Amino acid sequence: MSDTQRFTVTSALPYVNGPIHFGHLVGCFLPADMYVRYLRAMGHEVLYVCGSDENGMAITLRAMKEGISPREIIDKYHPLVKQSLSDIGISFDWYSRTSSRVHFDTAQEFFKVLDNKGLLHQQSGSQLFDPKYKQFLADRYVKGTCPKCGNPEAYGDQCERCGSSLNATDLIHPVSTLSGETPTLEQTNHWYFPLNEYEQWLREWILDGHTEWKTHVYGQVKSWLDAGLQPRAVTRDLEWGVPVPRTDAEGKVLYVWFDAPIGYISSTKEWAQAHGQDWEKWWKDPKTKLVHFIGKDNIVFHCIFFPAMLKAHGGFILPENVPANEFLNLEGEKFSTSRNWAVWLHEYLQEVPGKEDVLRFVLAFNMPESKDADFHWQDYMDRNNNELVAVFGNLANRVFVLLEKNFDQKIPLLGNLAQADQVFLDAAHGYPQRIGQAIERFRFKEALGEWMNLARMANKFLTDNEPWKSIKTDPSRAGTVLYLAAGALGILAVTAEPFLPFTSSKLRDALGIQDWSWKDLATHKLRPGAPIHNPGHLFHLIDQSFVEEQKQKLMTKSAAVAAVAQAIAPSKQEIQYEDFSKLDLRIGTIVSAERIPKADKLLKLQVDLGQETRTVVSGIAAHYTPEEVVGRQVSLLVNLAPRKLRGVDSQGMILMAEDAGGKLVFVAPGTAVNNGSTIS
Ligand code: MF3
Ligand code: ZN
Repeated sequence: MSDTQRFTVTSALPYVNGPIHFGHLVGCFLPADMYVRYLRAMGHEVLYVCGSDENGMAITLRAMKEGISPREIIDKYHPLVKQSLSDIGISFDWYSRTSSRVHFDTAQEFFKVLDNKGLLHQQSGSQLFDPKYKQFLADRYVKGTCPKCGNPEAYGDQCERCGSSLNATDLIHPVSTLSGETPTLEQTNHWYFPLNEYEQWLREWILDGHTEWKTHVYGQVKSWLDAGLQPRAVTRDLEWGVPVPRTDAEGKVLYVWFDAPIGYISSTKEWAQAHGQDWEKWWKDPKTKLVHFIGKDNIVFHCIFFPAMLKAHGGFILPENVPANEFLNLEGEKFSTSRNWAVWLHEYLQEVPGKEDVLRFVLAFNMPESKDADFHWQDYMDRNNNELVAVFGNLANRVFVLLEKNFDQKIPLLGNLAQADQVFLDAAHGYPQRIGQAIERFRFKEALGEWMNLARMANKFLTDNEPWKSIKTDPSRAGTVLYLAAGALGILAVTAEPFLPFTSSKLRDALGIQDWSWKDLATHKLRPGAPIHNPGHLFHLIDQSFVEEQKQKLMTKSAAVAAVAQAIAPSKQEIQYEDFSKLDLRIGTIVSAERIPKADKLLKLQVDLGQETRTVVSGIAAHYTPEEVVGRQVSLLVNLAPRKLRGVDSQGMILMAEDAGGKLVFVAPGTAVNNGSTIS
């Protein structure tokens, strides 16, 4: 890649149904950012676009779970995700969202073009439907027994035990994962894209034409193609999303995997509008290279579905490469949002401020480039202490301190070079190209490994030559050694840009080499007498206690979730019998019940306790109607100090049992007893 080229680079649009964690970061953001930072440093023309994925079932489902609207969900998480990505240094040129006007227009226009070409076929069929939520169910939101192996926990799209891919209608005893109810079959119709018609073309384009793609990407594509492609529905029955632009498609939206990749194009359009530029050259000029960074679960959409859409539409370029990553595990286990086994990026940024580059460094070293990888906090500490602090930081610190003390904060003169000096210099000059070539081949770990080798070599050069000794006996020799070490530090500073952008820029400032370019690192020379400034320690030692704290936190958070899942709340502190005996618990009968205006959750109850009747306000209205509770015997804590709730004096508390699903039932005697009976 010697001459200047144009690149359109994308990272998979994250669903903003929650914040993002380290697994997302390492999957498609960090590698893309390293790539584009390198390309820019090489003087290429680069546009790096992304945005929030805000349509579809993932968002709708989250909204249902939180009891708020999809709009509230995306407005909550879009800014959070956008900010955390920016704070960790992901250098998008534009970060959009798929709820934007431009995106709706672009996606609808795309659909219309395919439709007008007569490519989309309407077809009706029956589909599973959640009777409670009044919602058609995508296959993965249905669970049931696998017809092939009997696994009772199979998903509607595939069985994770036997690996068969399924249709939700194949499942035995299907249940909706939304409501837990048995879905019904309802008639609906959708528009289908004839993916099958592109099979031959895809074979030629990828299997013959892109043998250089990563083995696991190529392999996955091949197995999809070998299994044969089917027409795919590009519409859905959902209220949330991009409306299907047809008058006869009332209530239907575009399938999220149809509109989301078009988001790359809309994002480009928005960038172009904001900068008075032309968007088309980034998507239509055959000289532009399109590169999609994604996680492996997105391969079929970026290598098969989206390219076929682009091809069908016509006029668009196709991806040059789709360097998908595999998955990252956390301390040996899969990241899991539902189990809270995750480190959230925004929390890391907040709790460990100033260590953006440390995280990038450790994640880049553990990138799941060609197989799944693992993040361990111990490794985070070790790499920080043994590599960033002990090697790179140590080199920088020694160079700056010596220049500060002995050379008046200026670059010294370069004297005669010994043979070993020349060997060192030549070796150092070989690195930028090697690092770059590894990045061009998407081998980020190898690139970072090379960079680290340069740091090691330079650090050793300094240690071997001991300028702190020769400064007294032969100051010009010390100057030469420091000149060479500072020069290597300059090369490290420039080539650190993809991996450690914050440090890179700090170091370039300190050395006064903002104008050094990657391409010319073999010819750039420090100018003797030029001022430098000591930036102080670039990295700091991390203590073992930090590692233990992080691991503990992970355990505690996931244990809390697990406890809820098993309906076992964490136990409370031990108490004495005296504490218990203070409670006056009695049986009573609810004799009347009414709703409290404007309080959705509360019922006002009269409870007969034998000698007296008490008014009690209870938060059960979401679970019971007034008619359902009248006549029931209940347990009541009667000596609780009265409290005013919504203007009503509540004189006691009704005991309820609650399970993890939020189901609420009365704690009542097994057989009727006299009102006023005590509980002990
Ligand atoms: N939101 C999807 C996910 O998280 C990725 C969308 S990538 C795009 O898996 F191509 F559709 F934009
Ligand atoms: Zn199975």
